[in-house]
Amino acid sequence: MGATPLVVIPTYNERLALPGLLNRLHAAVPSAEVLIVDDASPDGTGEWADQAAAADPRVHVLHRAAKEGLGRAYVAAFRWALPRGYDPIVEMDADGSHRPEHLPDLLASAHDAADLVIGSRWVAGGRVVGWPLRRKILSRGGNIYVSIMLGLRVKDATAGYRVYRADLLKRLDLDLIEAHGYAFQVNMTMAARGLGARILEAPIVFPERAEGVSKMNGAIVREAMWLVTKWGLRRVATRLRLRRPPKAER
Ligand code: GDD
Ligand code: MN
Repeated sequence: MGATPLVVIPTYNERLALPGLLNRLHAAVPSAEVLIVDDASPDGTGEWADQAAAADPRVHVLHRAAKEGLGRAYVAAFRWALPRGYDPIVEMDADGSHRPEHLPDLLASAHDAADLVIGSRWVAGGRVVGWPLRRKILSRGGNIYVSIMLGLRVKDATAGYRVYRADLLKRLDLDLIEAHGYAFQVNMTMAARGLGARILEAPIVFPERAEGVSKMNGAIVREAMWLVTKWGLRRVATRLRLRRPPKAER
C-alpha cells in the first residue's frame, strides 16, 4: 500500500462552495485527506472548515493570519504536508472548477508515469465551460507568453489542478518560489522543469464557478507579467553567458 494522498484546498471567502466540494471529493477519492488553507476569510470559511475537521479525521485546517495570495498559501501547505509523509500532494481550487471526479484519473497518471500531473484546459479533450471571452484570452495569451519566454513545453502552465509526487516537492527548494499570486503555478512548473521532472498534462473540463466570485485581480496579472518577463530575460542572459567562451580562450 502506498502513502495517503493529500488534497490541498486554498480558500478565501469560499463558505458557499466548500461544503459541496468536500462531499464530492470524499465520494470520488475516499482515501484522500484534505488540508484547507484559509487566509482568515471574513465570510466564515475558516470556522466552517474547523467544524468539518472536528467531524471528519480526514480533514485538516491551516489558518493564516491574512490574505497573502494563493502561492504563499500553497507553500505553507507543502511545508505542513511533507514532514507528515503524504504522497502525492494535490492542488485543487475550492470553487468546483477543479472537478473532484477527474481526480482518480489524475492520481493514476501520477502513480504510473509522472512526477507532476497538470489538469490541463488547453490540451486535446480539455476545455473551459462558462468563461467570458476576456478571461479565455487572458489565459490563452498568458500561456503563449509563458511559452515564448520560458519554453516550459506545457500548454497550461498557469493551471491550478495538479498532482505532485512528494519526492519532487522535497527536491524543490520552496524558499526560491517567488510568486505570491497565480504566477505561483508558472513558478512551480519552471522549478519542476529545472529539476528534470516528468511532467504530464491530462485533459480536464473546467466549469466556471457557480458560487462566489473569482479572486483574480489586476495585481495578480501584473505580478505574473513582471515575473514571467524577468524569468525570461534571465533565461536569455544565462544562454548568452553559456555561449561565450571562458576568458582564457578569448
Ligand atoms: N488561502 C488563499 N489565499 N486562497 C486563495 C487566495 C489567497 O490569497 N486567492 C485565491 N484563493 C483561492 C480561492 O478561494 C480558490 O479556492 C482558488 O484559490 C482559486 O481562486 P479563484 O478566484 O477561483 O481563481 P480563478 O478561477 O479566477 O483562477 C483559476 O485560474 C487561474 C489561472 O488559470 C484557478 O484555476 C487558478 O488556480 C489558476 O491559476
Ligand atoms: Mn475559480
